[in-house]
Amino acid sequence: MNPKIDQLRELKAESQKGGGAERIAKQKAAGKLTARERLDLLLDKGSFHETDAFVVHRERKFGMDKNEIMGDSVVTGWGTISGRLVYVFSQDFTVFGGSLSEVHAEKVCKIMDMAMRNGAPIIGLNDSGGARIQEGVVSLGGYADIFLRNTLASGVVPQISAIMGPCAGGAVYSPALTDYIFMVKKTSHMFITGPDVVKTVTGEEVTFEELGGAMTHCSKSGVAHMATDSEADCLFLIRELMSYLPSNNMEDPPFKATKDDTLRTEAALDTIVPDNPNKPYDIKEVIDLIVDNGEFYEIQEEYGQNIVVGFARLGGFSIGVVANQPMVLAGVLDINASEKAARFVRFCDSFNIPLVVFEDVPGFLPGIDQEHGGIIRHGAKLLYAFCEATVPKITVVTRKAYGGAYCVMNSKHIRADLNLAWPTARIAVMGSEGAVNIIHRRELNGTEDPVGRRAELTEEYRERFANPYVAAQRGYIDDVIEPSETRPRLINALNMLQNKRDQNPPKKHGNMPL
Ligand code: HXC
Repeated sequence: MNPKIDQLRELKAESQKGGGAERIAKQKAAGKLTARERLDLLLDKGSFHETDAFVVHRERKFGMDKNEIMGDSVVTGWGTISGRLVYVFSQDFTVFGGSLSEVHAEKVCKIMDMAMRNGAPIIGLNDSGGARIQEGVVSLGGYADIFLRNTLASGVVPQISAIMGPCAGGAVYSPALTDYIFMVKKTSHMFITGPDVVKTVTGEEVTFEELGGAMTHCSKSGVAHMATDSEADCLFLIRELMSYLPSNNMEDPPFKATKDDTLRTEAALDTIVPDNPNKPYDIKEVIDLIVDNGEFYEIQEEYGQNIVVGFARLGGFSIGVVANQPMVLAGVLDINASEKAARFVRFCDSFNIPLVVFEDVPGFLPGIDQEHGGIIRHGAKLLYAFCEATVPKITVVTRKAYGGAYCVMNSKHIRADLNLAWPTARIAVMGSEGAVNIIHRRELNGTEDPVGRRAELTEEYRERFANPYVAAQRGYIDDVIEPSETRPRLINALNMLQNKRDQNPPKKHGNMPL
């Protein structure tokens, strides 16, 4: 027996207990796992190495000197996901409600600094009552220390947040600065002020779930990216997301060899686009038929559904997919879709993930709400993001590429590397009917048979412009391809672009229209 080792073992065992059996039971009764159970599910078995298990808070007032819990209210350290290093913090709600004390912030900052120095992702599991009320301004300072690190780490290492309980007040801004926010339905909430304060200030009555639950943030506010049914699902999906991402901005994303034939053609694609330009089809079917094993990891599935974004692989290469969705609002670009896609494009560009765009866009959404809401500014974000991106950029025009949206959606002019079109593509200033109404207005007003003449002129315009060949004649489209061969063509392109080198002019940073 070695008493010193016994003592160490006792201390470590003590630090594992968190807030004690009673509070752990309360946590379970609320349908939540403990901070450590969550880490067990997130990380490879046995890979977790803890830091700062001996740390205790420094507050002496309010009887806090007699209420010290080893490790305080957050568990920190590193581990692996599918063998790759990640840094983690997991807030422990059983200790002072997971509230953020001075030492809690120091523990988190230490992990973030290590992640930055060593080039590995940071994953934060949030479950906290906010600033440690007994500590006051010290804990506010702690938040700001974390916010600074979130900002400096942005674009250097991937940062992922899971919200697994309350996350309120200023505390929301750490997750908000990270790349992806996962929320668990029913047990997680994010808001600046809760239902009680809302009622006092505005008189509105609202439940926690309606105000800041998972579905609210994934479908209405766009604050969060993934809503899951359970904590286990949430942690599993984070593991899966990591498989598409490099560990830092100096690395390429991991290559995952595939059994899916790189030369696979898909006859169904030849007939998937309806002859009638006003008839929708599901762009997700197109994506599924093309990518490795039909596996598409969609981000923000419930938000701005007229654009689809997410990760997939082609011939083993990780790609970021951006696709207009003709099934929703005819695939038009509006405020939400522009912002959603712009953020995704910038993430992919930060982390060397090639962009593959499927384009079928009738233009920007008209309307007073959109104009007054700033569609000009928000649409410009997507334009800016595509213009600025230097990763391999490939576009496949499946059908409409109209107007300003043609320019925005990764056109040749804004440095796309390869622009392909299907024979069903229509690349024009606008749809044929709209064009005829404008350029032949005078003639149509003067004719005895405006309906018949309009049809004639529309057909004429359609024949002239509703095809990919006018653009191809100019070199705006590099090739018109048979839809069935899209997969092999894209894989070939990704191989061809593997060593792409491109950069933007030196600058402190640009001034994107936020
Ligand atoms: C200290 C806290 C705490 C906090 C909770 N606890 N929040 N201790 N500081 N902020 C403690 C409780 O005293 C309790 O201790 C235990 O955690 C569990 O809390 P309960 O209230 O029993 O749990 P529950 O009913 O699930 O309610 C959870 C809650 C509620 C909704 C989070 O606790 C709550 O409203 N807390 C205060 C939230 C708040 O106002 N935070 C400050 C926001 S301002 P015992 O010992 O009984 O187990 C802020 C500014 C950040 O965060 C600014 C950043 C820039």
